[in-house]
Amino acid sequence: MGGYVPFSRITAVLFRMILKVWAYSGLVLIVCFLLYYMYGGIFAVLLLFFAVTGKLCCYMMTQTLYKMSFLGILYQVQDSLLFNPELPSHSRVYVPIPSTFNLPYESIVTKTADGIQINMYLILQQKDRQHTAPTIVFFHGNAGNMGHRLQNCVGLYHNLQCNILLVEYRGYGLSEGSPSEEGLYTDARAAIDYLYARSDINHSEVIVFGRSLGGAVAIDLAIRPEYVGKVWCLIVENTFTSIPDMAKVLLGWRILQYFPLFFYKNKFLSYQKVKQLRIPTLFISGLADILVPPRMMLELYNRCGSIRKQILHIPAGTHNETWQIQGYYHSIAVFLQNCRLKSFAESDKRCESDTLKSMWTNVQDV
Ligand SMILES: *[C@@H]1O[C@H](CO)[C@@H](O)[C@H](O)[C@H]1NC(C)=O
Ligand SMILES: *[C@@H]1O[C@H](CO)[C@@H](O)[C@H](O)[C@H]1NC(C)=O
Repeated sequence: MGGYVPFSRITAVLFRMILKVWAYSGLVLIVCFLLYYMYGGIFAVLLLFFAVTGKLCCYMMTQTLYKMSFLGILYQVQDSLLFNPELPSHSRVYVPIPSTFNLPYESIVTKTADGIQINMYLILQQKDRQHTAPTIVFFHGNAGNMGHRLQNCVGLYHNLQCNILLVEYRGYGLSEGSPSEEGLYTDARAAIDYLYARSDINHSEVIVFGRSLGGAVAIDLAIRPEYVGKVWCLIVENTFTSIPDMAKVLLGWRILQYFPLFFYKNKFLSYQKVKQLRIPTLFISGLADILVPPRMMLELYNRCGSIRKQILHIPAGTHNETWQIQGYYHSIAVFLQNCRLKSFAESDKRCESDTLKSMWTNVQDV
């Protein structure tokens, strides 16, 4: 809640000042009337003028302050509008486990750079495959917990034959702390650090996936100089250009476009960051998304700096359930296959496409 206490203190001090000016200008007003009544003349008229403008200024300043304090409260409310770890109810105490979905898993607790303990599920392929399989790092949206994404993980696990690291942000599920923009970015880096600390995972094929808010987290991770070399490719789904843009869409207040960025506590400025992307990137856009306008995905795709980028439009895809549409996993498989072919083409001119095909030709959506 940083920022609120000093702000309210400033507001209080300003209010007290204004009250004083108000009182004094009122006094001056009365004196003026008396002077004018008794003596008349230009001197009293001038004084009267100053007193009246003083009153007017006071009034305007009070109004402005009132609005500012309202915005100050809004600034604080932004967190609770954006981060919804309590929805649906019990999300902070009950996190479904992968074994319910017949997925083998390890429950991981790791410490972030700023000392917060976050939880993750590591869902590994069978022993003979887990070393060679790619690993998807999954960043979920702004509500619920990682356990609510397990059905989607079943599909990824079986269709793409990948390991999955499901990340629980701080303040979500059983992870410690409370969510914030910087905090979520820090959690993302902790997830990659964790993967790199494990020797039983192929570090050269780490796929970063983010849906909705998770997309903004994934993009931030993929442009960090110290992490870009650790990520093989990026997949974002139904994510937004920025939080200020989303505020305009959700609130529909035209006045918002005149608000400076510092008004927003959480910014998630993906539309700026995508320009710095250099790794292969897939944008999955559900065209039936009524929360995040699909034009935002198109804008992100257009601004993306990577030469290997692809946008996948899924006409029936809604905000949360685009992954349930037929063809979803197959399209991801094709994207990954292309990433492989190209990385092979770069490092080794003998194109071993036959071995590649065998891995992802039998993708059937579940
Ligand atoms: C890891 O992936 C790379 C790229 O596909 C591959 O060349 C390498 O052999 C893999 N390592 C292991 C241990 O399978
Ligand atoms: C999407 O999922 C979130 C969290 O599970 C929920 O709060 C939201 O209402 C869902 N939106 C739609 C359009 O289903």
